[in-house]
Amino acid sequence: MASGQLSREEALECSSSRHACHVMLYSDTASQLFGRTPIRHIVLMQMRFDGLLGFPGGLVDPSEETLEDGLTRELLEELGVAVPVSVEDYVESRFAPSHPHTSSSSSSPLILHFYVKKIEEEHIREIEKAAASTAADHGLEVLGMVRVPLYSTKSHAGFSCFLSHSFIGNARSQLVDSLLRLHLVSPGELRRALRSSQRMNA
Ligand code: GTP
Ligand code: MN
Ligand code: MN
Ligand code: MN
Ligand code: MN
Ligand code: MN
Repeated sequence: MASGQLSREEALECSSSRHACHVMLYSDTASQLFGRTPIRHIVLMQMRFDGLLGFPGGLVDPSEETLEDGLTRELLEELGVAVPVSVEDYVESRFAPSHPHTSSSSSSPLILHFYVKKIEEEHIREIEKAAASTAADHGLEVLGMVRVPLYSTKSHAGFSCFLSHSFIGNARSQLVDSLLRLHLVSPGELRRALRSSQRMNA
């Protein structure tokens, strides 16, 4: 297992740790940008209150709720609509990396559980509508949902520009790893986008 990674069972035995669950919701789409650039997939992330990009979800207390029930509760708060997430959607658990944006006074370690769930494009649109209107956290913990541009424009913007932004915790590698594993982008496209995102931040 990669460093910092642990199994779901091992993670749940860490009763003194804090736990957080986040999910990448995505769909296929036939829509085309400017009528010519296939968008191919809609991947949902959010602009958080702290200006960082991340996935919807949040802190869960495994002594009071299952990881998946806790995640579903967080999604209701942040998206304004129930999106049931189950153990089948579970991907991995790992200890939170130490990061300048997330250094907290609390000393108990944080375990991050990650899920991926494919839904229908129509469902994505309902979520976006609810997240911008009825969601309890709209304008507070969540400033807005965003779609990830997976294409590259003629000027090499698009996916690479998106990757050059700042992300919470390891959300950026959760995104990149999931896109590769699910074949939503090819290794070559990803390599080019990562290289040019590094140039943008240089
Ligand atoms: P409160 O209701 O204010 O407690 O927030 P929350 O429950 O929605 O928690 P949040 O979503 O901020 O997640 C808790 C912690 O998990 C954050 O402080 C980050 O350290 C981390 N985190 C947040 N989003 C992500 C994400 O997309 N990926 C990863 N890996 N970690 C995240
Ligand atoms: Mn929340
Ligand atoms: Mn949250
Ligand atoms: Mn919360
Ligand atoms: Mn909250
Ligand atoms: Mn889009």
